[in-house]
Amino acid sequence: MIKPVVAANWKMYKTIEESVSFVEKLKKKPLDWDEVHIILCAPYTSLFEMGNSLRGDSFVSLGAQNLYWEQEGAFTGEISVGMLKACGVEWVIVGHSERRTIFNETNNEVSIKATNSLKNNIHPIICVGETLQQKKNNQTKEILSKQIRESINDDSNNNNTIIAYEPIWAIGSGLTPSFNEIDEIHNFIKNEIRGYENYKILYGGSVKSANSKEILNLDSVDGLLIGRASLNVTEFNKILSF
Ligand code: PGA
Repeated sequence: MIKPVVAANWKMYKTIEESVSFVEKLKKKPLDWDEVHIILCAPYTSLFEMGNSLRGDSFVSLGAQNLYWEQEGAFTGEISVGMLKACGVEWVIVGHSERRTIFNETNNEVSIKATNSLKNNIHPIICVGETLQQKKNNQTKEILSKQIRESINDDSNNNNTIIAYEPIWAIGSGLTPSFNEIDEIHNFIKNEIRGYENYKILYGGSVKSANSKEILNLDSVDGLLIGRASLNVTEFNKILSF
């Protein structure tokens, strides 16, 4: 069986101290680390110290939540791949729905960001997902197909990129699709869209310890992308105990 990925998206939560404390507690958990790949996507300010805390421990990978595609320059407030790399970052979430909706990120920008992260050996986790209205209009597959076509380009392959399916209406809402629906959509992403069949697909959107095992048990689900439930180390550990 392929090792599942459990990725935490901390969003705009946790100071440096809180982040390092989480890592220290996580390191104490007696897990069979060969069985899971953990990626902690933390705020930029925490990454360097978390990298220090993790040094010598290869059980957790460090991830960022965004990046800018230029190497350096007059881009106030942005962060480059090189800067992330210097902190020990190996993964980056690209095109999260909060970036797409609040910060108007387009599929094309997502694609450019993914390319630039790959050029610098940082693996993108590219997010796709439909709104509630699109779901109600039966447009889910059409929307996903377009997002995948336009956000994932030829620089990506199933070894260097992960896709996260996150229905926008499920994020932070406590709602999730049925297990059948998750399975159907993951299979759609894997099989229906030519060239993408072997990608690892994570499910994200209101994952918690109460539903994580059933979701991970679905054959089409290769891992989880977890927001709120990843903030608390006890809850996160419960999710990791499968
Ligand atoms: P949630 O967020 O687990 O809090 O729903 C998931 C995400 O936004 O990646």
